[in-house]
Amino acid sequence: MSIVDLMQPHLKNVKPYVPGKPIEELRRERNIQGEIIKLASNENPYEPIEEARQAIIEELSEINRYPDSGCYNLCIELAKHHGVNPNQIFIGNGSNEILDLLVRAFVGGSDEIVYAWPSFQVYPIVSQLAGVKSVQVPLKDYRLDLPSMRAAVTRETKLVIICNPNNPTSTYVSKSEVDLLVEDLPKEVLVAFDEAYYEYVAAADFPDTPDLLSKHPNVIVLRTFSKIHSLAGVRIGYSLSHEDVVTCLNKVRQPFNVNSIAQAAARAALKHMDKIRVRVKENRDELDFVRVELQKLGFVVPPSQTNFLLAVPPPGNSAIIEQLMQKGIIVRPMKPFGLGEDSFRVTVGTPYENRKFIETLKELV
Ligand SMILES: Cc1ncc(COP(=O)(O)O)c(C=O)c1O
Repeated sequence: MSIVDLMQPHLKNVKPYVPGKPIEELRRERNIQGEIIKLASNENPYEPIEEARQAIIEELSEINRYPDSGCYNLCIELAKHHGVNPNQIFIGNGSNEILDLLVRAFVGGSDEIVYAWPSFQVYPIVSQLAGVKSVQVPLKDYRLDLPSMRAAVTRETKLVIICNPNNPTSTYVSKSEVDLLVEDLPKEVLVAFDEAYYEYVAAADFPDTPDLLSKHPNVIVLRTFSKIHSLAGVRIGYSLSHEDVVTCLNKVRQPFNVNSIAQAAARAALKHMDKIRVRVKENRDELDFVRVELQKLGFVVPPSQTNFLLAVPPPGNSAIIEQLMQKGIIVRPMKPFGLGEDSFRVTVGTPYENRKFIETLKELV
């Protein structure tokens, strides 16, 4: 008998989340002395804005106290920002936590969760943790196929997760496609829009999902401070929903799930959206640069509405990810997602990092 035999049977086969390779791990493994550039985790390449840094420093003198469990001030400020009531906001330890809590609160037994695949790695994990069936609907041309997702909804379906834009393919579904789905779904089926990359979107026909809330109490919108706000390390995300969803989520969360440093940083970041918009513009310019250069090298690159690109190399480049790593550039292999043996996802970095990545790639392809 091993300890693993004692584990709950439905949890034994859970495959833990595989993050992008950390810089220090690559340095240790390959004994790389020089510069390492990590473009593997869709992080913001810049540190948080000065006001958020300052708020973090000021908050340090208070961390002998427990944080505000209900994130009162941040809920009020987010509600104002989005034009909803504060009781429609739920704050989580990253939007990942909210996905987990949603499943924990609403899905169990013979219920099913429908989501697209390939999509965000966390969806199969939270489904397995709850011991419920995942129904994975294949993408079509790297995009979510909403009609097929609708067709996959059965009487057992409790939750549909729409990753928009989709990680790892970077594509989006439009307002008209989303409206059709939401109108057509049974009211007993919750639909969660995971919009971690929302702030990067440039497409004019991207859906305004918070707008759906007044008419559709089954809609939940997930957003995060991890991406555009550069706060991935403090872990803070939030959802917008009907207040009853918030009541349910509050029943299943830890008492102090969001630390005080994260709350202070998020409040400061929210007050300076003007600075964030500058970063959105730079991301788009750099995204376009990297996309065009990849295409010149023969890569297939689906159109992106995010801070990353999916790159499918031309034939004959089977060692490309490994070779990039040898040269100190970390991208995210897409083989585990079934997106091709040598495909990878690359995050938009600083202008310097992006040019270094492209120059290195030119030597290799
Ligand atoms: C689609 C998607 N949702 C959620 C997250 C996680 O966000 P958070 O850091 O808020 O947990 C990510 C992060 O990579 C993501 O790509």
